[in-house]
Amino acid sequence: MTPLQRTQIGIVGAGPAGLLLAHLLHLQGIDSVILEARSRDYVENRIRAGVLEHGTAELLAQSGVGERMRRIGLPHEGTNLRFAGRDHRIDFQALTGRAVTVYSQHEIVRDLIEARLAADAPILFECDRVSVHDLDTDRPSIRYHFQGEERRLACDFVAGCDGFHGVCRPSIPDGVLSVFERSYPFGWLGILADTAPSSHELVYAGHERGFALLSMRSPTVSRLYLQCAPDEDAEAWSDDRIWAELGTRLTAEGFNLRQGRITQKSVTPMRSFLVEPMQYGRLFLLGDAAHIVPPTGAKGLNLAVADVAVMSRALGAFYRDRDTALLEDYSETCLRRVWQVQRFSWWMTSLLHRFESHTPFERRVQRAERDHIASSVAASTALAENYVGWPLP
Ligand code: FAD
Ligand code: PHB
Repeated sequence: MTPLQRTQIGIVGAGPAGLLLAHLLHLQGIDSVILEARSRDYVENRIRAGVLEHGTAELLAQSGVGERMRRIGLPHEGTNLRFAGRDHRIDFQALTGRAVTVYSQHEIVRDLIEARLAADAPILFECDRVSVHDLDTDRPSIRYHFQGEERRLACDFVAGCDGFHGVCRPSIPDGVLSVFERSYPFGWLGILADTAPSSHELVYAGHERGFALLSMRSPTVSRLYLQCAPDEDAEAWSDDRIWAELGTRLTAEGFNLRQGRITQKSVTPMRSFLVEPMQYGRLFLLGDAAHIVPPTGAKGLNLAVADVAVMSRALGAFYRDRDTALLEDYSETCLRRVWQVQRFSWWMTSLLHRFESHTPFERRVQRAERDHIASSVAASTALAENYVGWPLP
């Protein structure tokens, strides 16, 4: 007999979406079990996002997992756009009254895993062959293998927090979901380097050779990106070549690119993707399982957090008052923000990258768009409002 366990919410995936959902549910007295395919060590060291919207940082702090973020996170009150070697600073604080926080995604994952373990709540790493069943009934279940044993988890709802390549979205029958997507003819080569950031704020550089981004993880670790071919081989880039290209694209008067030992190199493809609706029966999709944005707007993690905020409130209302209204509205509520963020991420990507296919006309329009941001308070404010993020739903 396959051992059967019961919980209220079965959560697939221990990325930021699954872990934060479990945490917010726990605070409301709602039980969940998290099933994760990878090891704890792997998820705690996976280098991904770094910029937290104002509302994301606030939610983490309010829910009691913000202590380390407050201590080692870096508040950023502005960012720099560098066009043709000239900086235009977007002053978030002056334009919106809010700021962002630079704090690594894997640190958030560590904080949330620690909170989960401190609460003695179930989280299973290295689960194999996870599959979701009976989603169109009120008794859905999840089957998986753990330590060589086949198991079954019965639950009231399944939260698909298993990222873009997970099993939940593909388990929804054909014809239910509408897919919207766009892929871009470039990727990002990202590096981590043991060197102090060359600027105390991020620099987004739109250069004729392609986009470059200077970001950071701490006062001693820099994170930098270069626009590259979508199928670029990271290993084909020697450290010298990377620093030379970064130096060229980030060049500006008085700017000195600090170099250091490169400790990690990887290529990320760029895509915009989403499905509508973000629900099928008792399966709800959250975060990258439902949508992907190109990283130019620093939004993927923040959008996952926004889905979690909506979902945890909806489940709270369900268990407290048997009120299903928020659950029924889940997809529509999330998708309003998802489309805003898709628009912004697509727009930032179009503004900052080199498109080989651009005609001379399109190149001039892109330049005019850059001039508009650099010269108009209204245009800078629109960018700042989107970047620091709208209040969480
Ligand atoms: P994930 O983090 O992908 O987590 C999904 C989890 O599910 C994983 O742990 C995975 O192992 C697990 N899983 C998958 N399949 C299964 C299965 N079958 N069974 C069980 N578990 C499974 N976003 C920002 O907001 N700001 C940024 O600055 C930013 N920068 C980025 C830079 C890079 C280079 C990249 C790649 C992404 C960046 N993002 C950024 C995006 C952000 O990292 C993602 O949007 C975020 O990780 C989404 O969280 P998630 O929990 O939905 O999915
Ligand atoms: C990062 O620090 O990884 C980062 C910052 C800003 C972005 C994307 C990624 O837009």
